[in-house]
Formats: sequence, C-alpha cells, structure tokens
Amino acid sequence: MTGTWVATHSIESVQGGPMSFLYGDLRVLVAFVDGLPRAVEDACLHRRAALSNGICRDGIVTCPSHWWRYDLRDGRLQGADNLRLPTYPCRVSQGVIEVHLPDPTQAPSLREALLAHAREGRPHDA
Ligand code: FES
Repeated sequence: MTGTWVATHSIESVQGGPMSFLYGDLRVLVAFVDGLPRAVEDACLHRRAALSNGICRDGIVTCPSHWWRYDLRDGRLQGADNLRLPTYPCRVSQGVIEVHLPDPTQAPSLREALLAHAREGRPHDA
C-alpha cells in the first residue's frame, strides 16, 4: 500500500481520550483500545458526522448525531458486519503515534476539470 507514516499525537494525549487530526481532506480519529493505538476515518458512514465528537468507551465509539456505534479495532459498524470505517495501521515512535495514511489526492487543475467535463458532455462515437 502506498502512503506515508504521519506523526500525530503523543501517547499521553491520546491516552487521555480520542484525538482527531486532518491529513489533506481526510479526518482521522486516533484512540487507544486494549493498550494499542487505533486509527479510523473520523467520519460516520451515515452522514459523515465527526465521530471524535461522540462517546468512546471500551473500544466502541458512538456517533453523536444518530448513535451508530463502531468498533475501533476494525471499524465495524455494530449490527452490520459488512459496513466498516476505513482503518489505518498505527505504530509508536519516540512517544508519538504514527498513522500510515494514503497519500492525499490532489484536486484536479481547472484545465483538467474542464477537459473532464467536456468529455462527459461529448456524445459517444457510433
Ligand atoms: S451521522 Fe452518524 S449516525 Fe447519523
């Protein structure tokens, strides 16, 4: 998997409670579960509310908007095994939690966006 190890928060700060950070457009929640750092996308699968504003207890985070619950160990939505938050590998280096994240996607340039739009509007060749 391509990506980058990103230094996030100190162990001490995350042991005090889940923390969130932005990496490009990606918002990530970092928490300790069973003594290990875990990282999931900080966006509820329902309507993308920030899970970091919810309640986190015993490895389960509850969305503050409509109370969907996710297991931070694997991102699984409780009661729906086929739905999972994206999860990211974590490691600790010199007291700081690092998270392996995909490289940020770059927004297309205006020229690229206009060309793509023009291609979509062009009738297909017969
Ligand atoms: S936005 Fe999370 S449950 Fe609705």
